[in-house]
Amino acid sequence: MNKIAVIGSLNIDLVAVTDISPKMGETVMGKEFNIFPGGKGSNQATAAARLGGSVNLFGTVGDDQHGNFLLDRLSINDVGISNIQKQSEASTGCAMIEICDAQNRIIVVPGANSKTDEGYLQGKINNLLEAEVILISMEIPMDAIEYIVKELAKYGKKIILNPAPAVPLSEEVITHCTYLLPNEHEAEIIFNGKYEEAEALKKHANKLLITKGEQGITYFTGQEIETVPAIKVNPVDSTGAGDTFAGAFSFAISQRKPLKECIQFAAIAAGLSVEKRGAQSGMPTAAEVQEYCSRVSSDD
Ligand code: RIB
Repeated sequence: MNKIAVIGSLNIDLVAVTDISPKMGETVMGKEFNIFPGGKGSNQATAAARLGGSVNLFGTVGDDQHGNFLLDRLSINDVGISNIQKQSEASTGCAMIEICDAQNRIIVVPGANSKTDEGYLQGKINNLLEAEVILISMEIPMDAIEYIVKELAKYGKKIILNPAPAVPLSEEVITHCTYLLPNEHEAEIIFNGKYEEAEALKKHANKLLITKGEQGITYFTGQEIETVPAIKVNPVDSTGAGDTFAGAFSFAISQRKPLKECIQFAAIAAGLSVEKRGAQSGMPTAAEVQEYCSRVSSDD
């Protein structure tokens, strides 16, 4: 099986569900609280592994209870954890998440994720080179991302960057990435304010895939701007939908499927993922994606 390496964050998600989102200075009563495994790297690795990918995660946890919990969850989902470093100078990353009307607001305190730095990635380069596809997200230091993207490009690796949370990207990073997966808001930021959607899509044909939630995924095929529709679901919690898309897309790319099929497959996986609470709970298996496809085609 073609290997996937995921480089990114591991967080413990502290999730409060509320009917009313508090205004500044206001206190409201919530109706549910949960502690879930999360972090964009950990979520994306889990999404790809659940679908059947051979996945290794590269990142950092603290030497603490939350770190152990995250490592256990990853192992249960068959994500390779042998490259994850445990360090004692900072605690495991943490995300405070508010869910209101199935939408989320998130504050991330990176903690140990800030140790996923250039030095760590330099030490892991041989292990990273075992993968054919490398998926990277941005809750880790930016200089580490710049270093690893340039390094992996020298070896002709397929590099998929999910620029979340977004910062302006250098031309060099954009050039070296095989695929860029921002949402609409992130797309504006990564191109540093000089952004017009159609122009950016045409400049980055078959590379820039803009995810638009219920509106689907838009990209330029080289001939036309195309939108792959999202599937219709009953949303419960959108946390991790973008991560499921990125993980599922990476899995499909590792299977060397045509680009449009990869996007369609990832759109289905991401859609199914929002029907349960928590970033990882709703991530589908390949059988669940298949079952959805059979159900839809028998309804037609
Ligand atoms: O993308 C969702 C994730 O963002 C959450 O799991 C949270 O940990 C933050 O990293």
